[in-house]
Amino acid sequence: MGTRRTRRFWLCWALALAVTAVWTISASPVQTSQPVGGADHGSYVALTFDDGPWPGTTNTLLDGLAQRGVKATFFLVGEQVADRAETVRRMADEGHQIGLHTWHHVSLKGMTPDQITSQLDQTRAAIREIVGPVDLMLRPPYGFVDDTLRQWAKAPIICWSLDTEDWKDPTPSRITADILRQVKDGDIILMHDIFDTSVTAALAAVDQLLAQGYRLVTVEELFAQRGQDPQPGAVYCSLPPAQKEEVEP
Ligand code: NI
Repeated sequence: MGTRRTRRFWLCWALALAVTAVWTISASPVQTSQPVGGADHGSYVALTFDDGPWPGTTNTLLDGLAQRGVKATFFLVGEQVADRAETVRRMADEGHQIGLHTWHHVSLKGMTPDQITSQLDQTRAAIREIVGPVDLMLRPPYGFVDDTLRQWAKAPIICWSLDTEDWKDPTPSRITADILRQVKDGDIILMHDIFDTSVTAALAAVDQLLAQGYRLVTVEELFAQRGQDPQPGAVYCSLPPAQKEEVEP
């Protein structure tokens, strides 16, 4: 090892020691497992599942998420809710977020205010019948939104920033790889809990994301972590961090 390299080695070592000391001081004594708004610069993503609840697959997914201590968001089709009340209750009991995905899984684009209200209010009533008076965000089927919907949704409209296209090519390894290749802080990831393959892919992705230090939160938690208040009628596809501090290497 030459003199310059030796000097560089010791400099790096001293720097590492100093960084470790500073980190230890700033990290203790408070240790929290939950995100603290603004104070934590980890990466956060929200996994969202549309078109359920579905017999079998949704409960398998809930089992897997519970084993991993991970929360997700489920946008439900209203007409399927009453027959699968146990699954819906379980989602709420286990800390997942529930949202609207219309009564008949129809595009809301081009609908009249009355038609929109009918699709959404029926679904709201069915969900609240089971889990009580919760706030319900809207995932519009196909991501189709127009001005009338913005005006009449009476809920924040949640689209997505990472589309797994799990319905188009259901190969679990492909879906998981696409998530891991594209994922970034603040993403809202679109999946469907009506396919076995999507459940397999989602749980494999969760394992890898957790190993990489990502925190998997509900959409509501993502807003809270960013210090943002979701507004009815506004469309959100992702929640990038406001501004990250530059950290010296
Ligand atoms: Ni859908």
